[in-house]
Amino acid sequence: MTQRVSEEKAVAVLEARKITVRFEGLEALSRLSFSIDPGRIVSIIGPNGAGKTTLLNAITGVYPLHAGEILFQGKPISGLKPFQIAALGITRSFQQAQLFMNMTVLENVMVGMHPRTTSGFIKGMLRLPSERKEEAMIREKSQSILGEFGLLSKAGDMAGHICILDQRRLEIARAMACRPEILLLDEPAAGLTIREMEEMGHLILGLREKGQTIILVEHNMRLVMAISDNLIVLHHGTKIGEGLPGDIQKNQRVIEAYLGK
Ligand SMILES: Nc1ncnc2c1ncn2[C@@H]1O[C@H](COP(=O)(O)OP(=O)(O)O)[C@@H](O)[C@H]1O
Ligand SMILES: [Mg+2]
Repeated sequence: MTQRVSEEKAVAVLEARKITVRFEGLEALSRLSFSIDPGRIVSIIGPNGAGKTTLLNAITGVYPLHAGEILFQGKPISGLKPFQIAALGITRSFQQAQLFMNMTVLENVMVGMHPRTTSGFIKGMLRLPSERKEEAMIREKSQSILGEFGLLSKAGDMAGHICILDQRRLEIARAMACRPEILLLDEPAAGLTIREMEEMGHLILGLREKGQTIILVEHNMRLVMAISDNLIVLHHGTKIGEGLPGDIQKNQRVIEAYLGK
C-alpha cells in the first residue's frame, strides 16, 4: 500500500514540457515547462498579457501547441480535442462566466455532467428507457452537487437571476460535476467584493481539503497569497518565478515584472 502511494506520487498530475503557443509572430507561451503535483492549489500569476489564459486554453486543447508537449498523469494529451481532454478529467471555469442564463441552476449542472456519462444530456431528453434512468441519475447527482455548493435552494432559479457570487459558485459546481482530476479556475474572484472573495477562497480551500487538484489563474494577489500552495509566475510567456507564496513575494524578478508594467 505504502509502495503504491509513493509510485503514484512519482507521476505529476500535469506536466508541461517546453510548450510554445504562437499567434502570428507573437509567442504567447515560450518554451514553458512546469509540473503540478496532485492535491495542491497551484496559482498562475503574472501581469496582463503574460499568457495565463493562453496557458489554460493550451491545457484544455483550445489552442494547439507549436512546440513541446503536455502530459496528463504521464500520458501526452497534446493534439486531443477539448471534449476529449474534458472527458479525461480536466475541466475549467471561465473568466467570463459561461453559464446558460436562460436555464435553471439545476439544468446548468446537469449539462456539465455530459462529458462523463455514456448517453448524455441531450439524448437523455429523448427519453428512451435506459436514458431516462441515466437522466434520473444525473439529476440526483446534480442536486447533491448543488447541495455541496450551498445552491440547492436555488436549483429552480434561472442562472441569470442569481447573484454574481452564486453564478461563480455554480460555474465551479458545474465543472466539479464531471468529477475532474484537475479543476482549472480562470479568475474566479473577478467582480467580487472583498467579502465575497473571502467566501470564494473558503470554497476553493474546501475543494483542496477533499483532495482536488486546482490550477488557479487570479489577479487578486490577496486571494492568491492566502490559498495557494505554489505559484508559477509568467511574464511575456515565460516562467520568471516559481515557489511558495512567501518566497515569490520577495522575488526581485517578479517584483520588477509587476512594477514595470
Ligand atoms: N486568440 C488570440 N489571438 C491573438 N493573440 C492572442 C490571442 N489570445 C491571446 N493573445 C495574445 O497573447 C498574449 C497573452 O494573452 P493572455 O494569455 O490572454 O494573457 P493574460 O491572460 O495573462 O492576461 C497577449 O499578448 C495577447 O494579446
Ligand atoms: Mg487572462
